[in-house]
Amino acid sequence: MTDRRFGFQLLSTDGTARRGQITTPHGEAQTPLFMPVATQATVKGLTFDEVRCLGAETVLSNAYHLYLRPGVERVRDAGGLHRFMGWGGPILTDSGGYQAFSMGTLRRVNDDGIVFRSHIDGSEHRFTPESAIINQHGIGADIIMCFDQCVFSAGDPAAVREAMERTHRWAQACYDTHARSGQSGRQALFGIVQGGTVPELRRQSAQYITGIPFDGYAIGGLAVGETKAEMHDVTGLVCEGLPTDRPRYLMGVGSPEDLVNSVALGVDMFDCVLPTRVARNGALFTPTGRVSIANRRFAEQDAPLDDTCDCYACGNYTAAYLRHLFKAGEMLGPRLASIHNLRFILRLMSDMRSAIAERRFAAFRANFLDTYQPTDE
Ligand code: GUN
Ligand code: ZN
Repeated sequence: MTDRRFGFQLLSTDGTARRGQITTPHGEAQTPLFMPVATQATVKGLTFDEVRCLGAETVLSNAYHLYLRPGVERVRDAGGLHRFMGWGGPILTDSGGYQAFSMGTLRRVNDDGIVFRSHIDGSEHRFTPESAIINQHGIGADIIMCFDQCVFSAGDPAAVREAMERTHRWAQACYDTHARSGQSGRQALFGIVQGGTVPELRRQSAQYITGIPFDGYAIGGLAVGETKAEMHDVTGLVCEGLPTDRPRYLMGVGSPEDLVNSVALGVDMFDCVLPTRVARNGALFTPTGRVSIANRRFAEQDAPLDDTCDCYACGNYTAAYLRHLFKAGEMLGPRLASIHNLRFILRLMSDMRSAIAERRFAAFRANFLDTYQPTDE
């Protein structure tokens, strides 16, 4: 741990795509970046040595899960999340609101906060903007997130507006709690823009949230059931309303094609469970699209799944062997698949950074989208 404070440096641009660097007390990370998800203080199945070797510089964890188990105090008393889980690089925690809304059983939501039941044992808990910030102080990530309300059913514009206005009040409360705490030199706080798929609300939300001097700005409320076109339009619209000197984080995205398209719009940071979640089900990324390792055609492939991939799995094992591991229910299967998929995504990010730095991102994107066939989710 050094006394380096949080910072963001925009190194170059190519069209609206940006190449930059974040600085945190636990080191630097190059943007655009992808954060593997360590929900329960682990990237499922992998050691953090492996995660680092895959090229990850920053990982994401969830205050909701850590609060419920093992508890914020346990993490704090262990010396903070970095020491507790053995990852020395930058960490970002999500605030818990999104997970309480999506995983817990919601009991009540009002302007003070939310009351929910734990998805683990049904016990009742309360989160407020203040407690969400205090929890994240105890956990000790380099970047912490505002407590927000994401609306999952985009149907009702009145509900979207109400959640957005509540998110704005909570953002100010989170900022005030953080500013008063004396932690703001050690931990960066990002604001979150909401507003569903309503352009006018998104513009309003970007304007309101950027009126508060957060260290970075996130786009929330996307990849929750809207169309790809809506997601793309909202991302572009919000990016236009964000300051150029702060990092921009698109929460919960995404697939390879979403990453490429969102980097093109000016997003700097991403996280998503997709690469590791689908890996555990035997779905693997290749340059032409996602394939299922269970497919018959891999039974006799005595060659790596992807001969252009530099990961440990492709370097040491054949597709036939990977398929066998999955068929036999062996735990090495999901492990190797997670290694491969994360490497695929992290290499894609690295390739995009080079392309932006060399001002050939438009050609890179056109070529990628031409070759890669998206999977319908
Ligand atoms: N992760 C994915 N989407 C969201 C969101 O809208 N808010 C928060 N806090 N986390 C998210
Ligand atoms: Zn591979």
